[in-house]
Amino acid sequence: MAKALVLGGATGLLGQALSRILAERGWSVETLGRQQGDLLNDAFLAERLDAARPDVVFNTVAWTQVDDAEDHVEEARLVNRCLPASLACLLKTRESVLLMHYSTDFIFGGQHTQPLKENDKPHPQSVYGSTKLEGEEAVRAALPDRSCVLRTAWLFGHGRKNFVETILNACRRRDEINVVHDQVGSPSFADDVALYSIRLAEAWLEKGSESGVPGIWHVANSGEASWCELACEAVHLTSSPCRVIPIASAAWPQKAKRPEYSVLCTDKLAAFLGKQPRPWPQALRAYLFARKAMESGDK
Ligand SMILES: NC(=O)c1ccc[n+]([C@@H]2O[C@H](COP(=O)([O-])OP(=O)(O)OC[C@H]3O[C@@H](n4cnc5c(N)ncnc54)[C@H](OP(=O)(O)O)[C@@H]3O)[C@@H](O)[C@H]2O)c1
Repeated sequence: MAKALVLGGATGLLGQALSRILAERGWSVETLGRQQGDLLNDAFLAERLDAARPDVVFNTVAWTQVDDAEDHVEEARLVNRCLPASLACLLKTRESVLLMHYSTDFIFGGQHTQPLKENDKPHPQSVYGSTKLEGEEAVRAALPDRSCVLRTAWLFGHGRKNFVETILNACRRRDEINVVHDQVGSPSFADDVALYSIRLAEAWLEKGSESGVPGIWHVANSGEASWCELACEAVHLTSSPCRVIPIASAAWPQKAKRPEYSVLCTDKLAAFLGKQPRPWPQALRAYLFARKAMESGDK
């Protein structure tokens, strides 16, 4: 039985999806988070790696509060760069373990109009984006043959606050909401991102260095949307009477600058999967259907 160690696996949005789907696919899963100890302490991290003896380490831990990062540069760098750098260095001497490290579309910026490929030039515009890029570079430099950098984007899913959840909660309280229309990205279901990542890890376990798995991957649902389009679709699918009003980013000032266009090209992933990943509207429907079923189960 393959063994996974999932950093952030008990509490994170993506981490929880990974832990659940790995277990459903027959993996033995151990999670590691700050509840167990200080992940920024290398000795603690080394001890946990030796105790868990994983085949694959999934690192979902990150400073994900994009605006707060602007005021907490060093703290964000510790989590987004130093932790993955330490993990990659510690795994150098732990032979055959694969590191799956997650990154973000926010490493991109500038004036793109076409979906961004894995080898397009990064141009982060925020502390979050810069520190995540530093994390990617540290992982790839320390463990080039046994690491994947999985860039994902605009996650929604079960178990933790996310954009779709925030919109639907706001719709319960208000008749209309304002949502930005001039930022376009790749809305993605955490369950799908988890499943595609696990399939990459399973290909590595089966074929090792012949698998072509180490490297950078864009792991997202296919298609593109603005935040406003994503909100409209969620509102429509839940039959909410709330009106969604499109507004410009300039009318919704935020501390950190976001890319205007950061759609991730999924062609490399599609070649691996044999088809394009599920389109985001279908993934959103699956999420909202499962969410409704969970809510009715709770009553
Ligand atoms: N969410 C998105 O829309 C999005 C978009 C693009 C890329 N990503 C990337 O995808 C990955 C997963 O994101 P996510 O949305 O699942 O993140 P998340 O839900 O915010 O979870 C982050 C995890 O990191 C842990 N963490 C944060 N600071 C820590 C620290 N100092 N020590 C130990 N643990 C710490 C959190 O633990 P606690 O629960 O204890 O706080 C949590 O388990 C990240 O690499 C992120 O950059 C996410």
